[in-house]
Amino acid sequence: MLPQLMQHANSSMSGSICLGLHTNLINGFRSDSYVRKRILLTRRLQDFAQARLGRRYDLEVYSGRVPMPRRALIRAISGAHALVCFPYDVIDAGVMDAAPDLETIATYSVGYDHIDVAHARGRGITVGYTPDVLTDATADLTMALMLDLLRRVTEGDRIIRAGRWRQIYGADDYLGTDVGGKTLGILGMGRIGSRVAKRAAAFGMKVIYHSRSSTGPGTRVTLGRLLERSDVLSIHVPHTPDTHEMMDMSRLRKMKRSAYLINTSRGRVVHEKDLAAALRQGIIAGAALDVFHSEPVGPANPLVKMQNVVLAPHIGSSTDGTRRKMAELTVKNLELGLSGREPAYSVK
Ligand code: DGY
Repeated sequence: MLPQLMQHANSSMSGSICLGLHTNLINGFRSDSYVRKRILLTRRLQDFAQARLGRRYDLEVYSGRVPMPRRALIRAISGAHALVCFPYDVIDAGVMDAAPDLETIATYSVGYDHIDVAHARGRGITVGYTPDVLTDATADLTMALMLDLLRRVTEGDRIIRAGRWRQIYGADDYLGTDVGGKTLGILGMGRIGSRVAKRAAAFGMKVIYHSRSSTGPGTRVTLGRLLERSDVLSIHVPHTPDTHEMMDMSRLRKMKRSAYLINTSRGRVVHEKDLAAALRQGIIAGAALDVFHSEPVGPANPLVKMQNVVLAPHIGSSTDGTRRKMAELTVKNLELGLSGREPAYSVK
């Protein structure tokens, strides 16, 4: 067992690395012959969630640097019946095939672009995820980033902390942009996009959107129109082969020079180098980003040095209540998946 892999199970299991015996009551008779299923967690969940899982299953919880290195993951998953993973874990065919007994995967996220779902389906492995419970939290963060960017809040914070706030209340000082009356363009009218639309309408924004399949509040337009007319463009499409780097220079050039881009979806929907160039060259006015090509973002990323960019460390779902609900749903997905049923929220 890797030093970072901790065995978590109830007391009867302590010290055991392999599947252990568990005392069950079957038809009124005590039986010690039932093998507890094994769950690998690539990172810890909240204590309450692990305690609930630990009552029925053997848990191995990785506690080293994230993401769990691929070789360690392949070694650790070999005897697992279930996997709990996170958006940065790459769960491809090679990882799944290292686990011949794998029955179910539960990702602690609404996004599942890190999982080869087709391969899972082919193997009969169910995949659970956590939509709905994080919709409001992510829509709130989208609004927070938009207000911050248009009103230059964290830019002002940086100015004060750097000791560069020299004078107060000048007529033209720190001018931002009014939110009310502006056009918000929503790319992807799913659960989160439609909640953002409602919030934006309450701020007096006009909402337009582009979506291939869903309808929602506001006016549906072509992608070209969306890019041309939006004062703020907010991205809410999942990352798929079709959306990969779809916001590249050719599309950024179609936006207004005064427009802002917000991304709380997935970093790889945006061509990040093109975005940095567009911001540097004034092709668009600013950006607020919660997601990136490669996370965590380090100081070498050019976006870090730009004053017209607001950065957040992938916190769309990071509220106490939401993360608790995500853990509850992850546990439920696992329990259903391990009993041979579809998870409560199952990726199809
Ligand atoms: C998810 O759940 O996929 C989101 O990225 C969380 O912020």
